[in-house]
Amino acid sequence: MERLATEIAGIKMINPVMVASGTFGYGEEAANFIDLDKLGAIITKTITLKPREGNPPPRIVETAAGMLNSIGLQNKGVKDFIENRLPFLSRFKTPVIANIAGETTDEYIELVKILNKEPLVKGIELNISCPNVKKGGMQFGVDKDCAAEVVKAVKQATSLPVIAKLSPNVTDIMIIAKAVESAGADAISLINTLLGMSIDIEKYQSRLGTMTGGLSGPAIKPIAVRMVWQVAQAVKIPIIGIGGIMSGEDAIEFFLAGASAIQVGTANFIDTQAPLRVVEEILDYMNRNQIDHYKKLIGIVK
Ligand SMILES: Cc1cc2nc3c(=O)[nH]c(=O)nc-3n(C[C@H](O)[C@H](O)[C@H](O)COP(=O)(O)O)c2cc1C
Repeated sequence: MERLATEIAGIKMINPVMVASGTFGYGEEAANFIDLDKLGAIITKTITLKPREGNPPPRIVETAAGMLNSIGLQNKGVKDFIENRLPFLSRFKTPVIANIAGETTDEYIELVKILNKEPLVKGIELNISCPNVKKGGMQFGVDKDCAAEVVKAVKQATSLPVIAKLSPNVTDIMIIAKAVESAGADAISLINTLLGMSIDIEKYQSRLGTMTGGLSGPAIKPIAVRMVWQVAQAVKIPIIGIGGIMSGEDAIEFFLAGASAIQVGTANFIDTQAPLRVVEEILDYMNRNQIDHYKKLIGIVK
């Protein structure tokens, strides 16, 4: 498996395939179906300082080639994560990357200060891109100065690698990417979900309790590939590609566009084996094309 070994922002991984935040919980249920030690990294569901109940139902709608969700960052807070979720993850060698969100910059800082003390947490992914919460979340991700401010503040508060997860709900993703790179981000992950809506024509109402939600799945892949490619032309830090990855071939597209690693999200809801199948299919492609290391594929398409 040496052919897939990598290091992203100083985090060593056996392969470049991670699981995307919010689509894999904290690994506990998934461990019944797959060997967590075969993943590149586990990105936790977003953790906030205080518990959050999330949004009113319905919170999930299937769409053509994708799904809309409006979970609203439901989670039990950082204390519960440390006491009840991390101990389970300590059984595995796979690096754990904590995805966090705050309503204010101070909340992000407080969160990283708490997570700093946990040796199991190998990196921080900053959710500055959630379209489903009124305060915080996406507000940071759609404004270059806000995005830079939160990255800078978090970098000062931790020595852990910081990955800025970007929102696609912006006019020019390159501006935001450059801003977070200048602020000290060690890597960028993109994309989070695209703001969308689905209407029940019999009831004359939105199919989601919050009216709008985040679109994910194969439907968003071309947009994600485009944004990864654009960001790859704009920054030097590693890019982690996310968006509609269902197969190894999908992952290869992201590598060619400039991603150094990828995350599997919605696919986890369809196929519990998806992330490990993606790993196998990347290897199949490499074998078919006589590629000795996947890194040779990164950024070939300029
Ligand atoms: C049900 C659901 C919950 C999600 N929750 C989070 C979350 O808590 N934090 C976050 O940063 N992204 C969250 N996401 C976004 C995913 O991590 C990912 O960026 C997005 O779904 C695009 O990838 P995909 O098309 O492979 O799913 C969520 C996505 C889904 C479908």
